[in-house]
Amino acid sequence: MNDKPTGIASGLTNYGDRDFSAYLRRSFAQSMGYSRAMLARPVVGIAYTASGFNNCHRHFPEMLEAVKRGVLTAGALPIEFPTISLGEVFLNPTSLKFRNLMSIDTEEMVRAQPMDAVVLMGGCDKTVPAQLMGAVSAGKPSIMLVAGPMMTGRHRGERLGACTDCRRFWAQYRAGKIDGNEISQVEGKLATTAGTCAVMGTASTMACIAEALGMILPGTAAIPAVHADRLRAAEATGAAAVRLINSQLTPDRIVNEKSVENALRVLLAIGGSTNAIIHLTAVAGRAGIPVSLKGLNELSDTTPVLVNLKPVGNGYMEDFFAAGGVGALLREIKDLLHLDCVTITGETLGERLEHDGCEWVDRTIISERKNPLEPEGGLVALFGNLAPQGAILKRSAADASLFEHEGRAVVFSSLDDLASRVDDQGLEVDPKDILVLQNAGPHSTSAMPEAGYLPIPKKLATKGVKDMVRISDARMSGTAFGTIVLHVTPDSASGGPLGLIKTGDRIKLSVKQRRIDLLVDENELERRKTISKKTVQPPTRGYARLYAEEILGADQGCDFAFLKPR
Ligand code: FES
Repeated sequence: MNDKPTGIASGLTNYGDRDFSAYLRRSFAQSMGYSRAMLARPVVGIAYTASGFNNCHRHFPEMLEAVKRGVLTAGALPIEFPTISLGEVFLNPTSLKFRNLMSIDTEEMVRAQPMDAVVLMGGCDKTVPAQLMGAVSAGKPSIMLVAGPMMTGRHRGERLGACTDCRRFWAQYRAGKIDGNEISQVEGKLATTAGTCAVMGTASTMACIAEALGMILPGTAAIPAVHADRLRAAEATGAAAVRLINSQLTPDRIVNEKSVENALRVLLAIGGSTNAIIHLTAVAGRAGIPVSLKGLNELSDTTPVLVNLKPVGNGYMEDFFAAGGVGALLREIKDLLHLDCVTITGETLGERLEHDGCEWVDRTIISERKNPLEPEGGLVALFGNLAPQGAILKRSAADASLFEHEGRAVVFSSLDDLASRVDDQGLEVDPKDILVLQNAGPHSTSAMPEAGYLPIPKKLATKGVKDMVRISDARMSGTAFGTIVLHVTPDSASGGPLGLIKTGDRIKLSVKQRRIDLLVDENELERRKTISKKTVQPPTRGYARLYAEEILGADQGCDFAFLKPR
């Protein structure tokens, strides 16, 4: 028998008199109109992230009602509480900078408030990893509910979805192929419903990863945001949270070495976002599990890309849902997975796959193993003297003709430098050159924005050049494509070799050998290290100071050092 107080009687505010604390809390809770019978129920907290600055969570009020319905019907009391919400395009300098802040908020509010289990409502890119990180650290029974993807829009008979098509049309506009009038029409048709980006971008990748980890209900990652099934999933999630009360199924147990490997397999098989490597590394890191980039390469060599969605293929998330979703994919790679991993329902992954899903699968969207989109995984880690601790290339979204390439570096020393010179007609640049962006990594003041998708210089774009090798310590949107080497670690702001490159240096990329090298003599590099650089004044207060002091590299998931388990 467990005598630990539950529901609103748990985790009392400390006034030095427990009975007084309980009495005061009951009294204040009753001021919200709850009956005593309701207040005697166990409590399911709902980490609620609706925000006027988060278009992707626009439908959360309706989803919240469905979650509450599920909790109430299953016999507990649902109480929502707000946490930070991160709307991807509304944050400066970048949402990644605030992911850890949201994880702290989630962890501390889950721990400090009286709840026996929690539903984490997230969706937009950084919200899912932030909530998972916080939940793993808090160690309370938790289940995720994701926003679900947007539906596509239409432009002149063509389907459009944020945000691969945003970039495609913007590239056409930059190249002078469409005019200002058309780009403004497109602008109104890219994101037309509630929900997360419509392609296999970071949000959708993280939703699939959450399902692979076992942290959301089976079959719910890909349900479109506006589909009635999304509300049914919300209701079922509320009920599932009640079943978690007093169970041992805490996130720090569900996220383990094997489930993280399953998640990596899924990431590779969906041709998912490069950002997900950082996020999964951070989530796993909270459970004390390292994610090695060398290990990623081993998995990548034996995991085919099977999902034909943009930016790697043609479809959208609504097609993936209709095609069979994550369940159909998991069945296709069943032999590569650890089937004994326990999921949030209490079933193992293997048990789930025994009875889950329909037999029909749309093979234009989810390929059979014998006929994959790509025989190897979507992501590959590169090492070499330019990235001693690794870098990432999304080979499934890149131009294979550039995989073995040597070229002359054209260096931009910062985002401001890039913005001011990339379209300069006087810029000396050739399609075979390699564009390099410095000082855009996690330790820079720009805090690793999604700027790795360097624009093709206008003078080349207008001549039809669509892809070039681009290298940076920045990230790239999961919806972008191109031969883009990202997350170069250590980053330039922390003294990495990327910061030593000069325009005119030769760089060699070899995807076959998993290498990225700067072809400059070691002595010369040592000499460049000794040349003093402009030092940036570190922030003196607030979250910016905490970030600057604690941020870890991309190879450690850009978590804060003090948030890792001791
Ligand atoms: Fe929210 Fe893309 S902007 S998922």
